[in-house]
Amino acid sequence: MRTQVGIIGAGPAGLLLSHLLHLQGIDSIILESRSREEIEGTIRAGVLEQGTVDLLNATGVGDRMMKEGHFHHGIELQFNGKRHRIDMHELTGGKKITVYAQHEVIKDLVAARLEAGAKIYFNVKDVSLHQIETSTPKIRFLPENGTDAEELNCDFIAGCDGFHGPSRQAIPTNLRVEKQKIYPYGWLGILAKTPTVNPELIYSNHERGFALISTRSPEIQRHYIQVDPKNDIADWSDDRIWSELHARVDMDGWSMLDGPIIQKNIVSMRSFVCETMRYGNLFLAGDAAHIVPPTGAKGLNLAAADIQVLARGLGEYYHSGEDDILTRYAEICLRRIWKAQRFSYWMTTMLHRNVEHSPFEYNIQLAELDYVTSSQAAAASLAENYVGLPMEIKSNYSIKI
Ligand code: APR
Ligand code: PHB
Repeated sequence: MRTQVGIIGAGPAGLLLSHLLHLQGIDSIILESRSREEIEGTIRAGVLEQGTVDLLNATGVGDRMMKEGHFHHGIELQFNGKRHRIDMHELTGGKKITVYAQHEVIKDLVAARLEAGAKIYFNVKDVSLHQIETSTPKIRFLPENGTDAEELNCDFIAGCDGFHGPSRQAIPTNLRVEKQKIYPYGWLGILAKTPTVNPELIYSNHERGFALISTRSPEIQRHYIQVDPKNDIADWSDDRIWSELHARVDMDGWSMLDGPIIQKNIVSMRSFVCETMRYGNLFLAGDAAHIVPPTGAKGLNLAAADIQVLARGLGEYYHSGEDDILTRYAEICLRRIWKAQRFSYWMTTMLHRNVEHSPFEYNIQLAELDYVTSSQAAAASLAENYVGLPMEIKSNYSIKI
């Protein structure tokens, strides 16, 4: 088997890359270890930056998002029993964020790729990368129901296989530069069947721990509470979850709406960057190269930003033989990645309760929140980062294709 770009992973990064390459006439094949049903059903975050929304619209995969997504002009920060609105729309000259679940983005991209005749191999096993430092890299894998390994020969491999995939591990350890921070915080996330509780997201700093109120649809809500990452979800009954949410978000005259919880899980939080985003003809993108804590809502958007750079670089390479963007791929992406890391770290540190902190440090946290909600300059900085910093390399998909 042969293709121009072999893509490992059908997450947002892999699917978007395949889509953007197709629009430029470049052939790709995606290898995915899970089933289509699984990738389309896994509950993840759901905040899209303006630039991500613009890209999906400009490339013809934004129709359902524009109908079913929720457009928010601001967020609320809650602390000391009061809520303070950050008007992102006003502070950023008209930008907004869109709440649209990641697995819905995946459904739209899978449908567009398959409709265009793309090859996506689901349920593959034993994916391994070979000769990545040469101009003839190969991916070996066992196809679904197959007994013999297949070999996919490519010009380039895009490692879009998330944090636990094999692509990053294929780079020799002594040549891989990785930096990370593990937080003592976990997020217990729920999907609940209740009407929308608030028109905008609420980020609450509370003595009992952080809480986040989000939404998915007028009937389904997405909320999170900070828990110990070592907690077992079995110890969190629905009643216990609701009582924590009430304690952390209710205010005089405003109370959470309880309802049946239809999904719950706990995730731990880390910041991670693999600065070696290119090795030979292997390029890492998305969670394969970096993880952000979800407090800044940057995960999917950073993946989309890497892909815009990579798709543009591959486009230039195939159409004019230029390899300037590909050569600078890591450098270009890392400038944005580190700024998103800074913002996600800052939001996480400002909003979570650290039991090891002294009263002094807790007061510093509250002062930070007071500052960011009372200073126009500080609020504008939060808003600018939250809606998404401008892209250094602009995509050239200006109209619906
Ligand atoms: N072989 C093939 N596919 C694999 C393998 C493997 N060995 N290991 C992992 N994968 C697949 C996963 O099943 C998943 O579908 O790679 C895909 C990676 O997708 P994501 O983890 O969603 O990563 P990415 O596309 O970079 O998107 C980043 O996802 O994790 C969230 O918060 C993150 O929003 C961000 C976004
Ligand atoms: C979500 O709706 O899942 C969500 C919203 C904001 C975040 C993280 C997750 O910061």
